[in-house]
Amino acid sequence: MIAILSIFLVVLFAPGHVHSKCIAGELCWPDAQTWASFNRSVGGRMISVAPPASPCHDPNYDERACNAVRSGGNSPFWRTDQPGALQRTSWESFGEQRCLISSNRTAACFQGAVPVYAVNVTRAVHVQEAVKFASRHDLRIVIRNTGHDFLGRSTAVGALSIWVHHLQKIQFHESFKCSRGSDRGYSAVTVGAGIQWEELYRQAYQRKMILAGGGCSSVGAAGGYPQGGGQSFLSPLIGLSADNVLEYEVVTADGRLVKANACQNTDLFWALRGGGGGTFGVVLSVTHRTFPALDSLVFAPHNFNAPDTTTFQGLLTLFTRLNPSLSDAGWSGYFFSTSQSLTLTFLLPNRNVSYASTTLAPLLSYARENNIRIDGSLETYASYWDWHLQFQCGGQESCLGLNNLGVSDVFATRLIPRSLFNHEQDLLPKAMMHIMTELQVPATYAILGGGKVREPQDSAVNPAYRDGLWLLVSPLTWRDNATVAEMRAAANLVSQANKLFIDLTPGSGTYVNEADYNEPNWQQSFFGKNYPRLYHIKRRVDPTNLFTCHHCVGSEFN
Ligand SMILES: Cc1cc2nc3c(=O)[nH]c(=O)nc-3n(C[C@H](O)[C@H](O)[C@H](O)COP(=O)(O)OP(=O)(O)OC[C@H]3O[C@@H](n4cnc5c(N)ncnc54)[C@H](O)[C@@H]3O)c2cc1C
Ligand SMILES: *[C@@H]1O[C@H](CO)[C@@H](O)[C@H](O)[C@H]1NC(C)=O
Ligand SMILES: *[C@@H]1O[C@H](CO)[C@@H](O)[C@H](O)[C@H]1NC(C)=O
Ligand SMILES: *[C@@H]1O[C@H](CO)[C@@H](O)[C@H](O)[C@H]1NC(C)=O
Ligand SMILES: *[C@@H]1O[C@H](CO)[C@@H](O)[C@H](O)[C@H]1NC(C)=O
Ligand SMILES: *[C@@H]1O[C@H](CO)[C@@H](O)[C@H](O)[C@H]1NC(C)=O
Repeated sequence: MIAILSIFLVVLFAPGHVHSKCIAGELCWPDAQTWASFNRSVGGRMISVAPPASPCHDPNYDERACNAVRSGGNSPFWRTDQPGALQRTSWESFGEQRCLISSNRTAACFQGAVPVYAVNVTRAVHVQEAVKFASRHDLRIVIRNTGHDFLGRSTAVGALSIWVHHLQKIQFHESFKCSRGSDRGYSAVTVGAGIQWEELYRQAYQRKMILAGGGCSSVGAAGGYPQGGGQSFLSPLIGLSADNVLEYEVVTADGRLVKANACQNTDLFWALRGGGGGTFGVVLSVTHRTFPALDSLVFAPHNFNAPDTTTFQGLLTLFTRLNPSLSDAGWSGYFFSTSQSLTLTFLLPNRNVSYASTTLAPLLSYARENNIRIDGSLETYASYWDWHLQFQCGGQESCLGLNNLGVSDVFATRLIPRSLFNHEQDLLPKAMMHIMTELQVPATYAILGGGKVREPQDSAVNPAYRDGLWLLVSPLTWRDNATVAEMRAAANLVSQANKLFIDLTPGSGTYVNEADYNEPNWQQSFFGKNYPRLYHIKRRVDPTNLFTCHHCVGSEFN
């Protein structure tokens, strides 16, 4: 332990060539002629990026374009198509310098934290040129895919953005392996960096395959999701997304295009499975292992409403005690809780309704005996895709028409290890009741780990994931025009709520992709004992910290 700690301290304080990057408006920023020649080197694919609501304000007001912004503003797929939009709108602003859809035509529209230029890349060489140019001029760059990052890591003030959304290939393999040797081949699919789960789920379904993909299908299949770990409704059955990555194609900070897999660049391969997006290079494609489709699944939407908080605490206590056995039975999913209600969105792959019903019986009988209203059902679906269309896409033929994002929220999270669920003093439900009733953090939700997620892998995935049963989330939302003071207050409150769970779970951590922006001790919390190795790899593959983001490996020096 002491040895590890001292290596850690040495690397952490090693002198290095690190300083803040050049941003637009500074003297170091390249002149127009230099940009024009860069633009030629990327085939004229450089674009000026405006905040998405810019056509709703003078001097750029354009009624038709503004109406398109108003109707698209809450669509995650529309937002992905806008090079300047983020899914959580507050990341587009810099303090109160922002450009709101909701404010009127004469209200000011600031560039905020929206990058000034982007390269709309479609080929590896565009990425390589952008990386070399940024390196030569020491520019602040960001890698932007879908813009889902909860910590705002896919945008930066005054930056050049490498926009990977239009890297759109999908190629299935019957047997993928990294060498011609005798190692085992896997059924797999290689997807370009811009592919989102929606399209991949659809094509996988047609081939009777499943993958460990995002619960929200607008998330990217190759960017931050697999690189940070990637938790799926199907994870208890087939593991995290990172557990199933077979290869990445990457442009590294020196501008080289390399493959990272179990046969070559194995350190980079290790780091890109759990070490976080935006840190080790620009991923051009990822190869995911695929699995045979489910036989069927049981979906158990349930809503419990208690007459008062005391009765509810009884239900919540029973629910938490029951979770290890629900996990062992194969359930996964989310729950959402207020101080008097609990909503379950639980899935059980490859099982029948009578089995599902037996495992939930203790919860339902408790509710019946205690005058708690139950609205729920057990429904069988033939495939994950059928369930996805019916439940997540509102019965449409795809989720492309969803209008559920483009909001501003904030949360803090903690992986809750299985051991805490059997605690005889019921510390977990007590802490949850406390944050809901005393701190007025209205709701908490989580996904079940367990099953295949418990199996350790030789990757950078936070070891805390292997013992975790829940990723507990303490969320709050605010209006898009909230003041900086209001946003800070909400951020402080969720951190304060999460502190209770941190104190209950020493040695655990949280998920780098779904974490508190102000996470204390983030190196330990996001990466656990993997941090020193990740740090070494980062220093080797990116010695000048070209790729940098908030609380990403190596970002201590920014
Ligand atoms: C509504 C919603 C639902 C979600 N659901 C889930 C879920 O079910 N399970 C889950 O695990 N997570 C979920 N997430 C979190 C999600 O995994 C992270 O936000 C993730 O970082 C998104 O990656 P992205 O590439 O789509 O987004 P982006 O915001 O574009 O990128 C995220 C990070 O990855 C970097 N990055 C993107 N592309 C590349 C690339 N090609 N090469 C290198 N770095 C890159 C970016 O620079 C940034 O740091 C959800 C998020 C939202 C907003
Ligand atoms: C880059 O070049 C293309 C083609 O000449 C041009 O259309 C585009 O406006 C240029 N981009 C910028 C930001 O100047
Ligand atoms: C538009 O917004 C600005 C700035 O918020 C405000 O000063 C002005 O009164 C508003 N105008 C109208 C017509 O609502
Ligand atoms: C980006 O490139 C794609 C593919 O060439 C093109 O369809 C799209 O219109 C471009 N987007 C912008 C904003 O330039
Ligand atoms: C349901 O599944 C259980 C356990 O998996 C099995 O014992 C039972 O026979 C099945 N029932 C039906 C009706 O298929
Ligand atoms: C913010 O927007 C709401 C409506 O969405 C409005 O009622 C309120 O006055 C606005 N607040 C500020 C500070 O502009």
